[in-house]
Amino acid sequence: LKDLPVKETDVIVIGSGIAGLYTAILASEHHRVLLITKKSLFESNTRYAQGGIAAVTAEDDSPAYHRQDTLLAGAGLCSSAAVDVLVNEGPAGVQELIRLGTMFDVENGELALTKEGAHSHRRILHANGDATGYEIVRALSIQVEMLHNIEVWDDHFAIDLVTDQGECHGAIVQMPDGKRIFVRGEATIMCSGGAGQLYRYTTNPEVATADGVAMAYRAGAQIRDMEFIQFHPTALSYPGAPRFLVSEAVRGEGAVLRNITGERFMHKYHELLELAPRDIVARAIVSEMEATGSTFVYLDITHESPEMVKHRFPTIYETCMRYGLDLTSDWIPVSPAAHYMMGGIKTNLYGESSVKRLFACGEVSSTGVHGANRLASNSLSEAVVYGSRIVERIGQLPKQEKHPLDVTFRLGRKDAPSQAMVEKRLKLQKVMVRYAGLRRNRDTLLRAEEELGRQLPLFQAVLTKREEYEFANMLTASLLVVQGALCREESRGAHYREDFPERNDAAWKKHIVHTRDQDRT
Ligand code: SIN
Repeated sequence: LKDLPVKETDVIVIGSGIAGLYTAILASEHHRVLLITKKSLFESNTRYAQGGIAAVTAEDDSPAYHRQDTLLAGAGLCSSAAVDVLVNEGPAGVQELIRLGTMFDVENGELALTKEGAHSHRRILHANGDATGYEIVRALSIQVEMLHNIEVWDDHFAIDLVTDQGECHGAIVQMPDGKRIFVRGEATIMCSGGAGQLYRYTTNPEVATADGVAMAYRAGAQIRDMEFIQFHPTALSYPGAPRFLVSEAVRGEGAVLRNITGERFMHKYHELLELAPRDIVARAIVSEMEATGSTFVYLDITHESPEMVKHRFPTIYETCMRYGLDLTSDWIPVSPAAHYMMGGIKTNLYGESSVKRLFACGEVSSTGVHGANRLASNSLSEAVVYGSRIVERIGQLPKQEKHPLDVTFRLGRKDAPSQAMVEKRLKLQKVMVRYAGLRRNRDTLLRAEEELGRQLPLFQAVLTKREEYEFANMLTASLLVVQGALCREESRGAHYREDFPERNDAAWKKHIVHTRDQDRT
């Protein structure tokens, strides 16, 4: 480490989705901020969020209803204190986004609200119909670029956190030319997003490789609830098309699901039909696919007027049209795809991890809000609410002692993308879909563990390329998912064990927490 150049700042933000942009903006009021993103401000899971952001703004709604819906979806594993924070502070968070320039859709002078699965009330704000995340990123990145106290490093890859005696001092970062630098700060906020790329089929972009969870795990932070991976029920499933998200809001506005024989089926699975919790809809779809020998079911909103469909869902309409599918008149082939990581870096109500001066915000964090199954559209509000709490806490931190750090690190060189890594990544994604996906059992999970274990020698190698680091991070996170899933011998929320199909509150109303040197529940 002593050979590396050092960049000093106050607050280091790793990641540039809503959590990264928002915390950077708030922190910049009183601190110098360095925002590090491995691609650009415009590439993150947030950018692709369609449905919207859940917060109570309507008069017939209340934080108590939002709380109840969140707890029910979370299947007994939410922290009620964390949920209280979300539902009570969410409305102010939305106002703050508006103040920062986000233009949510308005109807008759009021914020327009939609509904998604397991919400008892219309409380989801959206923008440009179905491009909510894009609008938030647009507005926040303008602010980030304007603020003098924020320096943005795009195309920079955070390799590892630097910790000493349980305290974080910053991160080692690989620059675009392959050289490395030690970025040193008083506080580090991990905002690196989720893990969709652990699976072959995902709604997440290429960058969602679980880097933050793996880095924090290596740094000794507690990682919680990794067995809970949410599969979105309706990703486009059409030859040649990407697994593009078809928002739950389409069902919120009346779309129905049909199997390939044209029959509606959700009445067989849940009284809330198409708006049942996500895990139930996703598994119902897989059951119907199996029963009919198909790789998809249909989403049908053809009974609504074409004008309404095009106005409300312009992005989905246009994307489907690119593949010759007309949302206004065709049934759209869909199937589940990995979408959201409920678990992550365990934090308290101020976003503090178990490593001092390391905070986590957004999908990479496990605040306790989501439990075993995230309520749709709670993630953007979680990032905003907890982001402002993190910045408040950073303002109270005592000055950090800057002693010389004795941390060894192996230097490498920049190199061309490695074909072998592309193949390894694909293999890992297939293993995770096949053996640790929507439905698992002991045999499949052991198989996954064995297959992933074959890649472990990688950790002994000197890694030099970004692809190698990403793969190592994916491997770490996959093993945490598999080990959590093996350990949890019950079914709950997004975690479904075929060999333990029932929820078992007596034995399992608790969390699985992983730390580098020991795993415990
Ligand atoms: C969607 O639009 O269906 C995604 C919303 C979410 O995952 O919260």
